[in-house]
Amino acid sequence: MSDRYAIVDLDPADTVAIARIAGLLTAAFPHWLATADEALANVREAFAPDRVSLVARSGDEVLGWVGGIADYSHAWELHPLVMREDARGMGVGRALVTALEARARERGALTLYLGTDDDGPAPRTSAGGVDLFPDPLAHAARLASFGHPVGFYRALGFTVVGLIPDANGPGKPDILMAKRL
Ligand SMILES: CC(C)(COP(=O)(O)OP(=O)(O)OC[C@H]1O[C@@H](n2cnc3c(N)ncnc32)[C@H](O)[C@@H]1OP(=O)(O)O)[C@@H](O)C(=O)NCCC(=O)NCCS
Repeated sequence: MSDRYAIVDLDPADTVAIARIAGLLTAAFPHWLATADEALANVREAFAPDRVSLVARSGDEVLGWVGGIADYSHAWELHPLVMREDARGMGVGRALVTALEARARERGALTLYLGTDDDGPAPRTSAGGVDLFPDPLAHAARLASFGHPVGFYRALGFTVVGLIPDANGPGKPDILMAKRL
């Protein structure tokens, strides 16, 4: 599909694309960004100097968006990532993450990390719906995914590096993953 789309820096003046990305965020993450204003603020925050904001577009169409944050001297956080529903499963999410990896590497990062929540109505990983204490690391080491984005990140070379128990409520952890750049 690469001949039909491009990955570019999101233009702060491109209010149409910004609004479309905000729409993707509210649709994909209703618990986190419930309103259009919250989602718009989130997209605009990603224009800060310590951040990278990359959009996959096909002409005027927005296919997906990824943000990166220079959180540490040598580790960047991938946050957030969203693909338009009808553009998923075609390798564009992978291409966005690969483009972010290249940017982070250019700016001296050694590690790219992220948190991915298992916070839906039904658990989609073995770490959801259970008490992770007293040994969260044992749960992290044997984490299984049932259609959760953990599987996507694993396909891209990320590994589970930890769990934040009950981050989103009882039995709804955040799963921490990282990749060497
Ligand atoms: C997760 C998401 C970004 C993936 O993007 P995508 O464009 O559909 O993924 P790709 O087509 O690039 O897939 C890349 C690889 O990951 C695999 N993959 C994708 N989703 C997967 C899943 N849920 N479980 C296991 N593997 C998965 C693909 O099969 C593909 O593998 P391959 O290259 O070996 O064939 C997309 O589904 C999405 O936007 N979901 C909703 C928002 C979301 O969950 N964001 C992440 C929150 S942390």
